[in-house]
Amino acid sequence: MRDADRVSSAPPPVGRSVELALATAAVRALVDGRAGALVVEGEAGIGKTHLVQALAEEARSRDVTVCYGRAHPFERTRPFGVVAASLDLRRRSPDRRRAAVGALLAGEGAGAGGQPGGDFQYRVVEEVVDLVESACAEHAVRGYRAAFRDMRMDVIEVLPSGDRTVARVKVSGTQTGDFMGLPASGRHAEVDLIDIMRFDDAGLVCEHWGVADMLSLLQQLGAIPAGAATA
Ligand SMILES: Nc1ncnc2c1ncn2[C@@H]1O[C@H](COP(=O)(O)OP(=O)(O)OP(=O)(O)O)[C@@H](O)[C@H]1O
Ligand SMILES: [Mg+2]
Repeated sequence: MRDADRVSSAPPPVGRSVELALATAAVRALVDGRAGALVVEGEAGIGKTHLVQALAEEARSRDVTVCYGRAHPFERTRPFGVVAASLDLRRRSPDRRRAAVGALLAGEGAGAGGQPGGDFQYRVVEEVVDLVESACAEHAVRGYRAAFRDMRMDVIEVLPSGDRTVARVKVSGTQTGDFMGLPASGRHAEVDLIDIMRFDDAGLVCEHWGVADMLSLLQQLGAIPAGAATA
């Protein structure tokens, strides 16, 4: 994300091994798919920002996207200030979706008396969650493309059913880079995916469920013996 560079890096803080170990464990949990919150507090000048900078550096080194927002005491009445800063939700953002949320935040969603109402909050939260979800999906696809440079997806079958559509897809490629901690193996792999997509009234996908045969993928890459028991 373009904001990733706004939190500057810092050398590891001196004498903070306990705090750093806790923070690193939180980043590791995140990489493993477990969400969490970490609160860093302490008296003025004790090194909070320095610790956060070291943490951001650690996260980046593990290919985690870092978004950075900063609050100011003057902004206490500005809704979603830190979220808006960290996700670049400005009306002038070159990204159409970000600009739309920026416009909403700039007053278009304000209720009576110019005060943001419940509906406004709901819309902003929905938009922000959508934005973060697509950013995560794009990040995952970039990760796959980096690991399998010749990756291709072939749609084998498409089965429409009401507002949902099921697709059977074959993904294939050669592992030319790191994948889930496995160094490039040069092996070719083919995996089946089943995707179910729900479409909204505008014809856009609004919900998605996907299943991938990861066991077969890891077997083909040689990470798990082909005959390994699965029970
Ligand atoms: N453990 C440390 N090792 C090396 N330098 C440190 C350490 N802790 C703080 N510093 C340095 O001390 C200065 C103040 O630290 P920092 O700005 O991180 O404090 P803070 O707690 O965020 O302050 P504030 O309350 O004003 O936000 C910075 O120059 C920082 O690099
Ligand atoms: Mg600080």
